[in-house]
Amino acid sequence: MERRLLPFLLVFVLTAIAGVAASITRDDFPPDFIFGAGTSAYQVEGAAAEDGRKPSIWDTYAHSGRTRDKKTADITADQYHHYKEDVKLMKKLCLDAYRFSISWSRLIPDGRGRINPKGLQYYNNLINELIINGIQPHVTLHHFDHPQALEDEYGGLVSPKMIEDFTAYADLCFKEFGDRVKYWSTFNEPNVEAILGYDVALFPPGRCSSPFGSNCSAGDSRTEPYISAHNILLAHASAATLYKEKYQKEQRGQIGITIIGFWFEPSTNATDDVAAVKRTMEFHIGWFLQPLVYGDYPATMKDIVKSRLPIFSKEESSRLKASFDFIGLNHYNVLYLQSNPTKFDYNERDYFRDLSIKLGDHHMEGLLKVKASPWGLQRILEYIKANYRNPPIIIHENGYSTHGANSTAPGYDFNDHERVNYIKEYIESLHTSIRNGSNTFGYFIWSFIDCFELVFGYTSKFGLYGVDFSKKERPRYPHLSAQWYSNFLRCGGRETGSINLYTYIE
Ligand SMILES: *[C@@H]1O[C@H](CO)[C@@H](O)[C@H](O)[C@H]1NC(C)=O
Ligand SMILES: *[C@@H]1O[C@H](CO)[C@@H](O)[C@H](O)[C@H]1NC(C)=O
Ligand SMILES: *[C@@H]1O[C@H](CO)[C@@H](O)[C@H](O)[C@H]1NC(C)=O
Ligand SMILES: *[C@@H]1O[C@H](CO)[C@@H](O)[C@H](O)[C@H]1NC(C)=O
Repeated sequence: MERRLLPFLLVFVLTAIAGVAASITRDDFPPDFIFGAGTSAYQVEGAAAEDGRKPSIWDTYAHSGRTRDKKTADITADQYHHYKEDVKLMKKLCLDAYRFSISWSRLIPDGRGRINPKGLQYYNNLINELIINGIQPHVTLHHFDHPQALEDEYGGLVSPKMIEDFTAYADLCFKEFGDRVKYWSTFNEPNVEAILGYDVALFPPGRCSSPFGSNCSAGDSRTEPYISAHNILLAHASAATLYKEKYQKEQRGQIGITIIGFWFEPSTNATDDVAAVKRTMEFHIGWFLQPLVYGDYPATMKDIVKSRLPIFSKEESSRLKASFDFIGLNHYNVLYLQSNPTKFDYNERDYFRDLSIKLGDHHMEGLLKVKASPWGLQRILEYIKANYRNPPIIIHENGYSTHGANSTAPGYDFNDHERVNYIKEYIESLHTSIRNGSNTFGYFIWSFIDCFELVFGYTSKFGLYGVDFSKKERPRYPHLSAQWYSNFLRCGGRETGSINLYTYIE
């Protein structure tokens, strides 16, 4: 006992003398902890109309000029043509894993029915390239981008028809890729999708009703956020049940769903503001975690939203409860908010009026102008641990954006010290949470390379690697943060040998 304590004390004393905490290294995390970086299909693939791909709702939305810089991801980082080069960079970084998403409309262009062989081939190529380089593929099935054909046919996520079509698409992915893909996430950030897509129309399909969004052509902000979220939960549960019944035993993978979790603080210590934060956490993450862990919506939501909140049947409820192996958590920053008692009649309310809050100085802009508050990650992990039975978690996104940065402009600084500090502080914060009992087993930086950022287009960049979007070849160049991450991952000291694909599959 004493002998084991000795080195520990020594480190403690030395650290005290040095006056600084020793830096966390990869070795301070469990050996099987997964470190990675991520992107999503629409944001990096490009080749939007190539090899049989048809539009997703994001293509339609961006082409209608509704993104901040009026640009589209028709080409973006062109990963479709550069995936081999990108996997080389991942290997250089020493990533354990790459998180990407499958473009549903590349694989099944009309959303249902005919499969596009070129789409199948692309994802097989990408997955194989990852595997032979020793990098685990972590796949998201729906990253805000279902096929436009299904939107046209029945309104996408507002229709329960989506459940069957999503399940068939997921089935195809499990069948074709599940021998090599061991981590599946069904939906990315449904708690954002339901609001931005169906309440305020800042995301496709851009549905809303006056006075809640701008340029609403169709939709109902009072009900559709809740309906779309409900259908997403049921589609998730349906696909996850299928995976568990038909594939999991043989393929031995895991399935989950990825939510975004801001941490909220009250702007003042007034009772109303403190209560507003409590309510917001229920509406923000309880909306999804409560059904997934306990089988129903939070009581707070049922009380406030009443008949506009759909109801789960007994069967749906028990299906939901068994529907995840892990929760993906995207976390960026802390938001401050105030109570804003609503004077509106029940029938004139949307999600925000239901919530009766006002965000401090933050608006959409503020949501992505990330200020590092690494303690916020500890708070949300502690909150999930305490309230939702400490589920296994993968941090699927965490990262830092530079705004307006333009690599082709004179004086562009490749030394992204702010991003390095941000990532370092969040990894340290995560380490504290894990030591304190959080069940988190993976961490992915958003993003691996610069992407077309949803809403902000090319004016906001998160990449460890930058991409020069002004050149046809879309060259990648390392930011300092790439160097930092690869050092953290101890690239020099580790085996990063290749793996035989066929042995891997067996
Ligand atoms: C709304 O429509 C008007 C007129 O077509 C257009 O000028 C404006 O940019 C649109 N606003 C948004 C947010 O799309
Ligand atoms: C709220 O009270 C706590 C504890 O007294 C204090 O640390 C904190 O600064 C207060 N917050 C605000 C916004 O006044
Ligand atoms: C980036 O900077 C170059 C050179 O200053 C300029 O020509 C280009 O339009 C800029 N691109 C963006 C997206 O701002
Ligand atoms: C550690 O866990 C305890 C018990 O759940 C909790 O009270 C405390 O706030 C946690 N600390 C951190 C830093 O998460």
